[in-house]
Amino acid sequence: MEDKIVVKNLSKVFGKDPGKALKALKEGKSKADILRDQKQMIGVNDVSFSVKKNEIFVLMGLSGSGKSTLQRLINRLHEPSEGDIYIDGTDITKLNQKELREFRRKHFCGMVFQNFAVLPHRTVLENVEFGLELQGVDKDKRRKKSREIIKIVGLEGNEGSYPAELSGGMLQRVGLARGLAIDADIMLMDEAFSALDPLIRTQMQNELLELQERMQKTIIFVTHDLDEAFRLGNRIAIMNDGKIVQIGTAEEIISRPANDYVKAFVEDMDRSAVLTAGAIMQPVAERAFTGDGPRTILRKVRKNGLSGILLTDTKMVLKGYIRAEELAEYIKMHQDKEDIPFDSSLVHEPAQVYEDTQISEVINMYTDHKFGPFAVTDRDNKLKGVIVKGAIIAALSESYVPNNHDEQ
Ligand SMILES: Nc1ncnc2c1ncn2[C@@H]1O[C@H](COP(=O)(O)OP(=O)(O)O)[C@@H](O)[C@H]1O
Ligand SMILES: [Mg+2]
Repeated sequence: MEDKIVVKNLSKVFGKDPGKALKALKEGKSKADILRDQKQMIGVNDVSFSVKKNEIFVLMGLSGSGKSTLQRLINRLHEPSEGDIYIDGTDITKLNQKELREFRRKHFCGMVFQNFAVLPHRTVLENVEFGLELQGVDKDKRRKKSREIIKIVGLEGNEGSYPAELSGGMLQRVGLARGLAIDADIMLMDEAFSALDPLIRTQMQNELLELQERMQKTIIFVTHDLDEAFRLGNRIAIMNDGKIVQIGTAEEIISRPANDYVKAFVEDMDRSAVLTAGAIMQPVAERAFTGDGPRTILRKVRKNGLSGILLTDTKMVLKGYIRAEELAEYIKMHQDKEDIPFDSSLVHEPAQVYEDTQISEVINMYTDHKFGPFAVTDRDNKLKGVIVKGAIIAALSESYVPNNHDEQ
């Protein structure tokens, strides 16, 4: 996937002499040293990363770690002290004010904040229109666009309501709608759901994911909440003291936290809610093919010391599970025959999950499931890996490194 945003060695110093602070940073001074010695504040310290087109990229970290500053640098609401920001290949740090205005209009949706400025004396519709109004879009056009977006965020019927009549969740939808109404490809969201109570918050997160399926924006989402970061982010950048300390998918961060700061976040969360079957599956040691004779299959089972084996066609499409003891019994019954026919009654319905199935769901299924590993497949039922019971338990405890030797 192509890069939408590329950030190179970006820093932001709040203070009178950024050059002096940057020099001290390069000499190894810390953010605290510089605050003490120079009374200058380091907002962002030498970060580099890229965001792919249509990605939800989350900035996560404790309060004061530099998330908001970094996000605002990306549309130059803050001027960088050093570094470059490329959007679709254009270095926006080089644009003059007029070019920047044009560029923002083309690329940036409205920003969505925790307590975004809802205008109390304007209706929902008028609030959603506000960003377009500022852009000078004519009335009929902005009405039409705003009504469309209001429908998309689920506020249809509330166009004429005033903010005082709306719940917190609905207000946040107004904010979201105002941001989305501006027809651009990058959306910046700063703690947009942090003020909502947990149930509504989860609901808004799900709706954002659904919206994203349809709207296909590139989203930079700031949060201090790891669960939220993992639920929303295709990738997450974890920040501390103005630096990015780790970038990765939820699975990567959970299984290999880069340092103690990240570890402390990860230990705090419910791992089973974010780990997926794909993250903990193992390669398939051996499988039976449709067309293999019973003796061939039993040989494969024995050779790998398995208690059973998954059956696929030659295209790897999952067909079933064969239990070793049943197969051995069957062969024994027919042992005088030279060519034992394969009997379909040997084939059991396999326990099947998808790569993106959450571990918590796999655990729920485990109690109903009598024998064999879980077959992990893609949506076309092609076998991608297996999960054995031990792997689930291991994944839920400390950092988990899959190994290929567990019994399948
Ligand atoms: N306008 C500003 N002037 C001075 N310091 C600032 C300003 N904005 C942010 N900071 C400082 O920069 C650091 C990062 O802040 P911020 O980006 O708001 O963190 P976060 O969003 O992660 O809570 C903090 O130490 C903060 O005090
Ligand atoms: Mg902030």
